[in-house]
Amino acid sequence: MASTLQQQIQQFYDASSGLWEQIWGEHMHHGYYGAAGNERKERRQAQIDLIEELLKWGEVRQAQQILDVGCGIGGSSLYLAEKFGAIATGITLSPVQANRATERAATARINANFQVADALNMPFPDQSFDLVWSLESGEHMPDKTKFLQECYRVLKPGGLFLMATWCHRPDQPPHSPLSQDEQKHLAEIYRVYCLPHVISLPEYERSPISSTFKTSAPQTGLPL
Ligand SMILES: C[S@@+](CC[C@H](N)C(=O)[O-])C[C@H]1O[C@@H](n2cnc3c(N)ncnc32)[C@H](O)[C@@H]1O
Repeated sequence: MASTLQQQIQQFYDASSGLWEQIWGEHMHHGYYGAAGNERKERRQAQIDLIEELLKWGEVRQAQQILDVGCGIGGSSLYLAEKFGAIATGITLSPVQANRATERAATARINANFQVADALNMPFPDQSFDLVWSLESGEHMPDKTKFLQECYRVLKPGGLFLMATWCHRPDQPPHSPLSQDEQKHLAEIYRVYCLPHVISLPEYERSPISSTFKTSAPQTGLPL
């Protein structure tokens, strides 16, 4: 029987998170290597620098209730909860990740809790969090608009939603459509990483709720 995308993502992270942690550490995302992408630095520092760059870009000075959507093993959740003296809640599709994140929070004595939940149908009331954070999880979402709507639904008035996600290059006029070679390359990335599809930054900007957000395309790099 064919499994659903959600099941594939769950199985992918259940099976691979231990190995990812050994190789990439607790942060399962790319690093920030300066505005031009050419600074030389240690991998973990680059991953933390990406978190700090995002916070700087979003002008985040404080947070009390943080939601980490697609939390992995809680790398960002624990970092942000500790930095701001906040409570962090993380959701992931992977029970293995949720358990590992819970274990890491207990060991570090950081106020963070984790659960298995779907970002497209979150188990939280409206207006629950003052910072909603999504670091390299948006690319897994089959319905990008629904994802953005859910993130905004659980955001308190005056709160902030910060997302960094994989995009492909702009492909609408005046830009050329994606070539066959680019589409083939993308299809392989989708297959390997369990992604339904990614969209371009201008597509996010055309989203029905785009009047509430700003976008930018900073340089990130592979942490290896
Ligand atoms: C590449 S990992 C990033 C983890 C984390 N944000 C970090 O930077 O360390 C992608 C995460 O997105 C989560 N994810 C993917 N689709 C999801 C969904 N529909 N609902 C909740 N989490 C999802 C996965 O379970 C995984 O934890």
